Amino acid sequence: MTDAARKLILGIETSCDETAASVVEWSDGSVRTLSNAVASQHELHAEYKGVVPEIASRAHAERITPIIRRACDEASVGLADLTAIAAGVRPGLIGSLLVGVSASKALAWSLGVPLIGVDHVRAHLYACLLDQPRPAFPALGLVISGGHTSLYRMGSPTDLTRLGGTIDDAIGEAYDKAATILGIDYPGGPNLDKRAQDAEARGVAIVDELPVSRLGRESLDFSFSGLKTAVLYAFRGVPGRRESASAADATFESDEAREHRMDELCLAFQHAAVRALTLKVERALDAKPDCGALLVGGGVSANSRVRTELARLGEDRGVEVRMPPMALCVDNAAMIAGLGAEQLASSNWQGESLSEVRAEPTTRA
Ligand code: KG4
Ligand code: ZN
Repeated sequence: MTDAARKLILGIETSCDETAASVVEWSDGSVRTLSNAVASQHELHAEYKGVVPEIASRAHAERITPIIRRACDEASVGLADLTAIAAGVRPGLIGSLLVGVSASKALAWSLGVPLIGVDHVRAHLYACLLDQPRPAFPALGLVISGGHTSLYRMGSPTDLTRLGGTIDDAIGEAYDKAATILGIDYPGGPNLDKRAQDAEARGVAIVDELPVSRLGRESLDFSFSGLKTAVLYAFRGVPGRRESASAADATFESDEAREHRMDELCLAFQHAAVRALTLKVERALDAKPDCGALLVGGGVSANSRVRTELARLGEDRGVEVRMPPMALCVDNAAMIAGLGAEQLASSNWQGESLSEVRAEPTTRA
């Protein structure tokens, strides 16, 4: 390979509570990850049971330079070798995004290389293409994270048409809120998943049929707020009913009874939440029969039942299902660098001036 064919892209991601940098090598339509450095802030936010924006942006400011240095060192790449910088620009916490976008601008300006603005939600789908051969396009894309639950038709990694999305809570948000209702420790989503898995292994039965939102007959949108409320009522009682416990305080005969009820509801929640996803994926495959693959991304793609049920659905429907390896389900910069490399290589790339690349708190349609 000639040096000209070897494009090295540095990706930078600071949209929420992970400070991340990665170097990928783009060559002839394939992307190889050379480094993927992530500094998680989970320990800083755990006592607040959620991400505190001011703490997050301060931590990004402290960690951004060391993490960029680490990504370059691990890839054995010097700053002068870089072809372009890709920055996660939207959506996210504005104070957090600004740290990564400002660092990216400073680097691109000082090195005289292009700066590529990358959408974090779309980049989640790229996580399952890194270091892999390409699946057949068109494909369906399913993003399931703490802030988003969306379905896309993908003509290519950079050509996405939105088919549907949540009309209220994102699935990860519903996991986190259900975990809080049930008194499960932070981080709620992974811990609820683990508890549901343990309960299933111990033979706990599903006694509550929690609602699976369908919406209109052909709708490809999602809704998770009813499921969350159903967990609240099932655990604490329906407010106003004489026999129910107070809405603020679930009462149980014993600690064992309480623990057992938590097991039952974790299991029932996990089944209903994942069924709501598979139902819409089935509908989308019916509506878009030309899609021969399903790409999945976002934090909730780490969920054990999501992985087994989507894999099963793919086998039943003869569709290739791609899910990221566990390390790439969470926020990372390799997915930003990878999608940035694709954008740079695409025929639509016209270059963006430094002032055109801006931090934006919300995603675009
Ligand atoms: O993609 P991500 O790291 O951040 C966003 O872009 O939102 O996703 C974080 C979300 C959180 O809501 C977290 O609880 C959820 O993903 N999550 C899970 C699991 N692992 C992470 N939810 C259910 N089961 C899991 N195993
Ligand atoms: Zn994310």
